[in-house]
Amino acid sequence: MIEVANRLKHVEEYYFSKKLREVAFLKSQGKPIINLGIGSPDLEPPFKATMLLRDSLDDEGANKYQSYQGLPELREAIANFYSKRYKVNLSSQTEVLPLLGSKEGIMHISMAFLNKGDKVLIPNPGYPTYGAVTKLLEAKPIFYDLKEEHNWQPDFIALERLDLSKVKIMWINYPHMPTGANATNKFYDEVIAFGKRNNILIVNDNPYSFVLNEKPISIMRYRGAKDVCLELNSLSKTFNMAGWRVGMLVGNYDHINAVLRVKSNMDSGMFYGIQKGAIEALKCSDMWFVSLNSVYQLRRELIWKLAEGLNCTYDEDATGLFVWAKLPSHLKSEEFTDLVLKEHSIFITPGTVFGSNGEGYVRFSLCASEEVIKEAIARV
Ligand SMILES: Cc1ncc(COP(=O)(O)O)c(C=O)c1O
Repeated sequence: MIEVANRLKHVEEYYFSKKLREVAFLKSQGKPIINLGIGSPDLEPPFKATMLLRDSLDDEGANKYQSYQGLPELREAIANFYSKRYKVNLSSQTEVLPLLGSKEGIMHISMAFLNKGDKVLIPNPGYPTYGAVTKLLEAKPIFYDLKEEHNWQPDFIALERLDLSKVKIMWINYPHMPTGANATNKFYDEVIAFGKRNNILIVNDNPYSFVLNEKPISIMRYRGAKDVCLELNSLSKTFNMAGWRVGMLVGNYDHINAVLRVKSNMDSGMFYGIQKGAIEALKCSDMWFVSLNSVYQLRRELIWKLAEGLNCTYDEDATGLFVWAKLPSHLKSEEFTDLVLKEHSIFITPGTVFGSNGEGYVRFSLCASEEVIKEAIARV
């Protein structure tokens, strides 16, 4: 075996990559596993999107490499989506970059702005990819606390006390995964001011704003945001298109251009048909969001029942595709989820996957039918 690069020595395989192998093995042994672990939407994408994908296969050039910046119509559809849904004006020429899913954007942004030894502020709990990518680039993650008693928002007084001289990026993610917490207007103003004062790029990762969330917000709506912020967004959860891999990055020309310099050296564009389908999805009417959320609302009520059956508590005001539930005080997250898998064949995610502040919590996904969730309740 050739020795792996130093950068790999501090990075584990992604939790779900490992755990889903174990779950698949249990299934192959005949265990009737119910998967409430991962947030991969099981509902259909918009019909028109699938139709356009199919219909565009015979278009001239459909099989060719595509532009590194996506089709101009896709960038326009993204700018229109931001204008209609978030009341944010963006130039489709210079302030929008389509991505192959938003996850890859985390790497591209980090490669564009981080040098070895730079520091990055990362939420704890939070999406594990921010920390993993930071370590892959030999930069240093500085995990900042999010606590339930603070409504899962950062404490800026504590942040200002840190040595911020080498901090280049701060990741934020509201509506927040895994807790479902939302941010306030005051928070967005504060984080922008914090970024400006300390010369830190603020990146808001925003894939959950349309799931069980009454007021979708983009950080770009706030005064001064374009100077110091980027925002990632995604069609994965909003339009049930996780496997299509369509995301986007928005921000000012200079920041977007820096990311394009990385990205254009890494992939060779998004498949034409997927772009055509994505354009249709982005044009969906209000009805799409109403019907999507009516399904998730019913599922969430059932998941609440399941959580109660497992003696967990939860916040009814939380948003998003998951229920974040608190365990009785003496229980540990991983022991609890292992037990639930063993005794009930139900896979849920331990809160510790998202950082040390996730200890004592578990995450249930809403990506399973009512029937399946009812079966889980019956088992418990
Ligand atoms: C917080 C957060 N950001 C980003 C992503 C990546 O989404 P995608 O790459 O499908 O756009 C996920 C996926 O689960 C997520 O939970």
